[in-house]
Amino acid sequence: MRRKLIAANWKMCKTPDLAREFVAAFLPLVKDHPRDDIALCPSYVCLPAVVEALRDTQIGVGGQNMFWEKEGAYTGEISAAMLRAVGCSHVIIGHSERRQYFGETDDTVNRKLKVALAAGLQPIVCVGEVLEEREAGLTEQVLERQCNIAFSEISGVEAVPLIVAYEPVWAIGTGKTATPQMAADAHEVIRAQAAKAFGEETAQAMRILYGGSVKPENANALMSKMEIDGALVGGASLDPKSFSAIVHY
Ligand code: PGA
Repeated sequence: MRRKLIAANWKMCKTPDLAREFVAAFLPLVKDHPRDDIALCPSYVCLPAVVEALRDTQIGVGGQNMFWEKEGAYTGEISAAMLRAVGCSHVIIGHSERRQYFGETDDTVNRKLKVALAAGLQPIVCVGEVLEEREAGLTEQVLERQCNIAFSEISGVEAVPLIVAYEPVWAIGTGKTATPQMAADAHEVIRAQAAKAFGEETAQAMRILYGGSVKPENANALMSKMEIDGALVGGASLDPKSFSAIVHY
């Protein structure tokens, strides 16, 4: 059995004060609820506040991005070692907004993934098709390409901490959700690619999250699917009540 992970992606929202307020309200709502793993991914500037507020809990903290170089003249970038140094356990890599607005490609995802794994982070690699691709019947092909390139030159042993999030781009922030069956089908495609790259054992143990308009109202139906190992939640993770309701799906 794979343990589910419910992860919050706050994107470019909240200041350190608001992040601390969230954690103070959220912790009592999820205490005594050890069923799944939980992680919060705030903006870089909120990481120290969130790490500090979550001390003595099992809740993980993740960055939303990182650069593959160790250090140097890369203005505005953050390294894997920096994320580790402030206490991150996770990092999101290749979110569709990074791909759409900041020029990330399957190849940059692969470079970042290798470095994140080497640094001891648990990467959450995002893949997913845009609406035109789904309508053209290309979903499977797109997922195969994204996974093949992202997973290349990584061994089965190295890939053990890897988590993948299937996030159909047409479902992100739109209120449209993939049906549990659509998500489960996509997850099977992703797991098959992981099996090719990493071997059956690592692939079977790898968690594949669903992301895209996950809300308290649809979390249960999605999380009941065997193939769905958790959720990556954007909008509905900003409020402690709605995010805790998702954790309690
Ligand atoms: P959403 O975002 O829940 O607001 O659709 C999900 C994500 O982008 O990770």
